[in-house]
Amino acid sequence: MSTTTELKQTQTLGALGAKSAEQVLSLFAELRARFDADAGTATSEVSWKALRDAWLGRKSGVLTLVTDNWLKPSSPELKRVVGASLNELRAHVDAQIEERRVAIESRAQATATAKDRVDLSLPGVIRPIGSHHLIRQVLQEIEDIFFSIGFSIVEGPEIETPYYNFEALNIPEHHPVRDDMDTFYLELPKGVPGPLLLRTHTSPVQIHTMEKRQPPVRVVVPGKVYRRDNPDATHSFMFHQIEGLAVDSDITFCDFTGTIDYFVKQFFGASVKTRFRPSYFPFTEPSVEFDASCIFCGGSGTASAGGVCGKCKGAGWIELFGAGMVDPAVYGFVNYDPKKVSGFAFGIGIDRLAMLKYGIDDIQAFFQNDVRFLRQFP
Ligand code: PHE
Repeated sequence: MSTTTELKQTQTLGALGAKSAEQVLSLFAELRARFDADAGTATSEVSWKALRDAWLGRKSGVLTLVTDNWLKPSSPELKRVVGASLNELRAHVDAQIEERRVAIESRAQATATAKDRVDLSLPGVIRPIGSHHLIRQVLQEIEDIFFSIGFSIVEGPEIETPYYNFEALNIPEHHPVRDDMDTFYLELPKGVPGPLLLRTHTSPVQIHTMEKRQPPVRVVVPGKVYRRDNPDATHSFMFHQIEGLAVDSDITFCDFTGTIDYFVKQFFGASVKTRFRPSYFPFTEPSVEFDASCIFCGGSGTASAGGVCGKCKGAGWIELFGAGMVDPAVYGFVNYDPKKVSGFAFGIGIDRLAMLKYGIDDIQAFFQNDVRFLRQFP
C-alpha cells in the first residue's frame, strides 16, 4: 500500500482539495486501483484475512474511514457522487474478496486431494506369504496319519506337577529315570503350592486323558517338552513330541506293532521296514525302541558313493522312538481295571522325525528361525 494514498481516507474531501465530482471520481478510481493491487497479493488464507480486515474492518477498514471522512462530512453537492462511488467501490471490494476466498479455498482443497490421491498404476507392495514351520508341517503329517486310523487329538499343559509328569507314570521319587530327564522346576512365588515343573515328555497327558475318559481311548498328543540339556546338534532344552495312547478291552501287542509299522510306512514310504528292540520305560511293559531301516542307504548300511552310510553308521537301521504296552501299574492311577483293559503308548520326537525325513543334521536349525532355512520348506 502506498502511504500517500493510504492516508487519503483519513482526511476529509475538503482537506484533500476535492471540490468537483471529477476529483471525487478520480479519488475513488485511485482507491479502487489500490484495492486491486492489494487484492492481487492475497494468495493465502493469511494474506486474504489481512486484505479483508484492511478494507472491510469495522473500525478502521478503508471503507469505514471513507464513509466517516469522505461521505459523512461531504458537502450536499458532492454527497450523491460520493455515496454512489462508495457503493460501487464496496460492491467491487465485496465481490473481489469473496472471489478470492473461493479461489484460495478450492486451491487448498485441490492440493489436499492431490496429496491423498491413490496412484493405481504404481506397482503394489509385495508382502511375502509365510508358510508353516517345518515342525508344524511334520506334526500335521503325523496327525493326519493317526487321524486316518481313528485317533483323535488332545492337548495338555506344559507346566505340570511331579505327580502327572512322574508318579502317575509309575516313576516314583528317586527313580533313576528322573536323572535322564533333567527337569526344569519353576521358581514359585511364596504361598503358591508346588513344586511345578516344565513337562519333560508328553506322557503326563496319558494320565489326564484316562482320568477324564473311559476306554476305548485312542489319542495323539502333540506338544512342547523341556529338558535341561545343553544345546547341540541333537539336543535342545525344548523340543516337540507327539504322544500316542490306545486303550481298549482287547488291544494286543500285534495291534501295537501293526499300528506303528503302518505309521512308519505312511510317513517314510512303503519300502521302509520296521523292527523293535527291548527297552525300558517305567510306564510301559514290555517297552520297546522302534527302528526303521535306514532311509538314507535303503537299509544296506552302505553309502551311495561307497563306504559306510554316515547316517546309520553302517547298521542299516535308525532308531525312531520309544513305545510299549501300557504298564498295568499306570491303570491303577487312573482307576482303570488292568484285568479288563490293555493298550499301548508311544512317544515320537517330532523334531527327530523331521530331521530324518528331510535330511537335517542340526536340531538347532528349527529354532534359529533363519528364513534361508525355513524357505526351503514352503
Ligand atoms: N515319554 C517317553 C520319553 O519321552 C517316551 C515314551 C512314550 C515311551 C510312551 C513309551 C511310551 O522318553
